Amino acid sequence: MLLSVPNGVFYNPEMELCRDLSGLCLGALGGKLSVVDAMCATGVRGLRYRKENGNVSSLALVDMSSRAVAAAKRNAAANRVKCTVAKRDACEYLRNRGFDFVELDPFGSPAPYLHDAAKSFREKKQGFLSVTATDMAVLCGAHHAACMKYYGAVPLDNEFCHENAVRILAGKVILNCAPFNLSAEPIFTLSHRHYVKMIFELRRGSEGAVESVKRLGFVSYCPACCFREAKRLVAIERCPSCGHLLQYAGPLYTGALWREDTLKSMLRLNAKRVYRKRAQIEKLLNTMISESGIRAYGYYDLHTLAKKLSVRIKGMEEMLADFAAEGLSASRTHFCPTAIRTDAPHKKIIELVSK
Ligand SMILES: C[S@@+](CC[C@H](N)C(=O)[O-])C[C@H]1O[C@@H](n2cnc3c(N)ncnc32)[C@H](O)[C@@H]1O
Ligand SMILES: [Zn+2]
Repeated sequence: MLLSVPNGVFYNPEMELCRDLSGLCLGALGGKLSVVDAMCATGVRGLRYRKENGNVSSLALVDMSSRAVAAAKRNAAANRVKCTVAKRDACEYLRNRGFDFVELDPFGSPAPYLHDAAKSFREKKQGFLSVTATDMAVLCGAHHAACMKYYGAVPLDNEFCHENAVRILAGKVILNCAPFNLSAEPIFTLSHRHYVKMIFELRRGSEGAVESVKRLGFVSYCPACCFREAKRLVAIERCPSCGHLLQYAGPLYTGALWREDTLKSMLRLNAKRVYRKRAQIEKLLNTMISESGIRAYGYYDLHTLAKKLSVRIKGMEEMLADFAAEGLSASRTHFCPTAIRTDAPHKKIIELVSK
């Protein structure tokens, strides 16, 4: 793709993987979709969406910076992409229009934009909302008060903070969609370096909206033995495994983070494309497929657990083999290279790690 990046217009080459994956996900959705890239900067994401996917029926690029809009127009012309380019505030633009696929890629937290993004679907039966958050320190619990302010949720600064981050973000999206009678269900989730990316399917219906909200809850966590449990409600109580006082985070989303058939379609599309990161994407998607069926917070960092239990750290392959030998589900997780995701009960996990 031909891309000019003038001074003063944001462009981060490190987000290429994120743009590849969100483009694959959009392509995997099929149908004919009107798309808005509501914070487009150079326009690279939206322009790639249209160039690479036959199912984008129209594209609007929006940014409130004059320089960004000039760059987006130039880049659209250079790549022969037909689209609308508008210098507007994203919220104001979305509030008055409707699209099938809304892309929100702000600096930092998307929280201030979610209300208007959800509102833009008010006349749609179904749509897709794609959200990036780069405020990982907030979502991962380094800035407790900021997380409460932006997301209305208590975070946890522990070894599964990245899974917690996407679940807090998803909870916020669900709570913004529900008042418009929209359910919101994640179909794709990526946690990578300094950001998370989630794509949601929204569906019209009061019952569905209520069902989405019912998937919110809390996670309790024992800092002594790593016990954790996702629940609708939590009380301040002691760890059922070791008796230590539990910590908690939430409200947050406790349901599935991926739709397996979408991940498989993304894999097939990736095989046909000439992305520089094709091999990395294939590996990532395969890991997501293997972890997608396993319970929320079945994510155990083996290093943390070994340290807390004062036992020898075993290698990942050895650990996975031990679980398989017992007939227990266990997979790697894309959230962390030293963690596994398993449906095994906490006591069994401790037994296998300590063996
Ligand atoms: C992180 S950049 C977007 C990067 C781009 N999506 C990409 O993949 O390279 C965020 C952009 O949002 C724009 N922006 C920030 N607040 C906005 C708002 N309220 N309305 C529209 N654009 C906004 C900024 O000018 C900036 O260009
Ligand atoms: Zn415990």
